[in-house]
Amino acid sequence: MLRIALLPGDGIGPEVIHEACRVLTAASTRFDIPWTSELFDLGAERYLRTGDTLPEADFIHLRDDFDAIVVGAFGDPRVPSNLHAKDILLGLRQRLDLYVNLRPVQLVDARLCPLKDRAPADIDMAIVRENTESVYTGIGGHLRKDTPHEVAQSVMIHTRMGCDRLLRYAFELAGQRRGVLTLCDKANAIPHAHGIWRRALAELAPQFPEVTARTLYADVAAMRMVTHPQEFDVIVGDNLIGDILSDLAAALVGGLGLAPSASLRPGVHALYEPVHGSAPDIVGTGKANPLAAILSVAMLLRDFGHVDAADAVQSACTAAVLATETTPDLGGNLATAEVGTYICAQVAHA
Ligand SMILES: NC(=O)c1ccc[n+]([C@@H]2O[C@H](COP(=O)([O-])OP(=O)(O)OC[C@H]3O[C@@H](n4cnc5c(N)ncnc54)[C@H](O)[C@@H]3O)[C@@H](O)[C@H]2O)c1
Repeated sequence: MLRIALLPGDGIGPEVIHEACRVLTAASTRFDIPWTSELFDLGAERYLRTGDTLPEADFIHLRDDFDAIVVGAFGDPRVPSNLHAKDILLGLRQRLDLYVNLRPVQLVDARLCPLKDRAPADIDMAIVRENTESVYTGIGGHLRKDTPHEVAQSVMIHTRMGCDRLLRYAFELAGQRRGVLTLCDKANAIPHAHGIWRRALAELAPQFPEVTARTLYADVAAMRMVTHPQEFDVIVGDNLIGDILSDLAAALVGGLGLAPSASLRPGVHALYEPVHGSAPDIVGTGKANPLAAILSVAMLLRDFGHVDAADAVQSACTAAVLATETTPDLGGNLATAEVGTYICAQVAHA
């Protein structure tokens, strides 16, 4: 029995997670997958009502009683500090040690690619981003804040353990794909914090002779992802570089509405979420594209061994894009729920 915790969150989060759950239901019926889910009341509403962000009891329940967590998005204009979102998302990431952030990037329709003359076969990559270290730990501070003499510091943390475990995951993934691993960094300008990645890569590479490992400076990588996207298979980088390059990659295939992700402590904890935020500007309008959330659920199905179901959901999403049975961001004129209905029908007949 697959046990799934649902955290729809804020804004369009509940709208897209509702569709993802309908698709999960359709897939589980078609492919006979037993699953249960529990809805968590976490997000801006609860924070404004009670002051709770991620209470300890909820955290322990999430940590101990589920195989996977599915998240919508967090962020609400009524909470300008974004405190609840930081506590929930960064809290889960750090406390569950979800050190892998995996973002597959696949072009399904050349029409959605901003590059000219690119076919789907040209863009098929997976970004593996370190998810717990670098400048995202919050370590740092200000001196003489808000004065002309202010000093601001953010500390970039890289541990050898953090490099090794992420690179090992990336090597294994590359071995299952086309066998090309590109470490992107700024080891020229940040020799200490990024040099450690290059040394770790060089030491690990002999254990994966089937994988061609190379390094690229992130600025060069950004250029080549635009000029030669077909060169890239698995891209690995620290939290900062991975953050930037994964959004660039998402833009190559149709943008945020089509970008799923997984945050993993492989074999222990797994969290799936669309890359996009809570999009307060379109809440309640029916314009929220549910495909990124639905594709995140396809990643979940695949990770838990339900490959046929994952393929069916992914094919259904591709069919929707190709037939322009989509929300307006992808050129269609369907509402969020209508896209969900289309995907469910495709999955039911897969
Ligand atoms: N993982 C997360 O929970 C996450 C990620 C990014 C931003 N946020 C939060 O979301 C809030 C809004 O942030 P933002 O505006 O910078 O980013 P956003 O991703 O929410 O929106 C950016 C733009 O893309 C559009 N968009 C996003 N998702 C879409 C979808 N599924 N379908 C159609 N259009 C979509 C929005 O309408 C908006 O114009 C903020 O509070 C931010 O902190 C949360």
